[in-house]
Amino acid sequence: MKISIIGSGYVGLTTGACFADIGHEVICIDNDSSKIKSLLAGNIPIYEPGLEELVQKNVKKGTLHFTESIEEGVEKSLVIFIAVPTPPLEDGSVDMTYIEKVARQIAAVLKDYRVIVDKSTVPVKTGEKVYQTIKRYNSHNSEFDVVSNPEFLREGVAIHDLLHPDRVVIGATSERAIKIMKEVYAPFKAPILITDLNSAELIKHASNSFLALKISYINALSRICEAAGANVQMVAEGMGLDHRIGKHFLKAGIGWGGSCFPKDVAAFIKISQELGYDFKLLKEVSQINSDQKEIFLRKIRDVLWVLKDKRIGLLGLAFKNNTDDVRSSVAMDLARVFLKEGAIVQAFDPKAMGKAKEVLPSIHYCSSALDVAEEADCVVIATEWEEFINLDWKSMKSKMISPIVFDGRNLLDKKRMIEMGYHYVGVGN
Ligand code: UDX
Repeated sequence: MKISIIGSGYVGLTTGACFADIGHEVICIDNDSSKIKSLLAGNIPIYEPGLEELVQKNVKKGTLHFTESIEEGVEKSLVIFIAVPTPPLEDGSVDMTYIEKVARQIAAVLKDYRVIVDKSTVPVKTGEKVYQTIKRYNSHNSEFDVVSNPEFLREGVAIHDLLHPDRVVIGATSERAIKIMKEVYAPFKAPILITDLNSAELIKHASNSFLALKISYINALSRICEAAGANVQMVAEGMGLDHRIGKHFLKAGIGWGGSCFPKDVAAFIKISQELGYDFKLLKEVSQINSDQKEIFLRKIRDVLWVLKDKRIGLLGLAFKNNTDDVRSSVAMDLARVFLKEGAIVQAFDPKAMGKAKEVLPSIHYCSSALDVAEEADCVVIATEWEEFINLDWKSMKSKMISPIVFDGRNLLDKKRMIEMGYHYVGVGN
């Protein structure tokens, strides 16, 4: 199958590499010429485990190509995926200018039948608008179909999620387009759900909001556990063993972040409002999340009293483990507060320091996790990197001024830390 993907960001690039790897002929398109140049040279602008190897392998094999030209992509491919950004606006709504522009650009060069597939996360009814826009700006009056095919990959495990999806959602009504989309996904052996366009678009926002709700639920429970002297990890385990609930996304912590959940929950609240429904439940999900960070900060202030001039060792800057992404990272938010209150922040992250430096140059970036403990008044764990669990916490203690650990991800064993002589503060335990 000949496929083009417009937008070589996180979703576009990983999808393109995986499609090429399973046997499709793929052209990845981006309007950023420096990005295309660096991709052609085999350099990947993001850290995602396995991605660089997969891109290089398929470029070599001749199944993965890069270009700046939408015209070339549309001419050479039957299926055109749109994977451009849909960033949030101030009021929570979604900036649709990139999608709209791409729809016009496709229309300008569309001559023969093509399936135009939206993969970006978009408000419900976007597909209808893309269809109208292409129809309006296409002077050849060509035949085409618009399909919604939302992406559910998680950063850090994106290749696994793409190659082994729980489900593939295809929102389309045209039999011709459905047949082609089924061929695109045939090698994946995943369950395919065919829906109408609007339902497919809603599935994405509904799923992400539900996952955020699940985390906010356990975070709210963590507060009850603290007040009642219970342990949220045990409560989560007990709940998760019920297969109707499931054990995933029940890890209490400092709250969810990243480029999807904050944006998608805000957008879904806004979309619902525009459709005449006040989604109060989701507003509370969002509120619990911002409170969760504040409550954690309060715990730090309670122990350290004044943050000014304190040396805080920060473990983790990425919004989650196995990524270098610091967008809407709660770890970065904590660092901002520490710096604002006059603390010295010495931080380490296995992958995200390069990106963090661009945003927060005033952090002191350490060359190892151990170094954050040097003369530190406390250590704060803000990202769930596994290597923080296996740190030499005895050596860490010997380097610190006072052995205090605020574990925002419940990574460490509380009992063991206390036995080692730490003042340990977790979340809901
Ligand atoms: C999410 C969705 O999972 C994915 O399906 C969608 O395509 C994009 O958005 P992602 O943003 O990559 O993926 O990360 P995810 O693993 O979902 O984690 C989001 C945030 O929730 C992170 O900040 C993470 O640390 C936090 N989290 C996750 C918790 O606090 N507790 C949990 O139990 C799980």
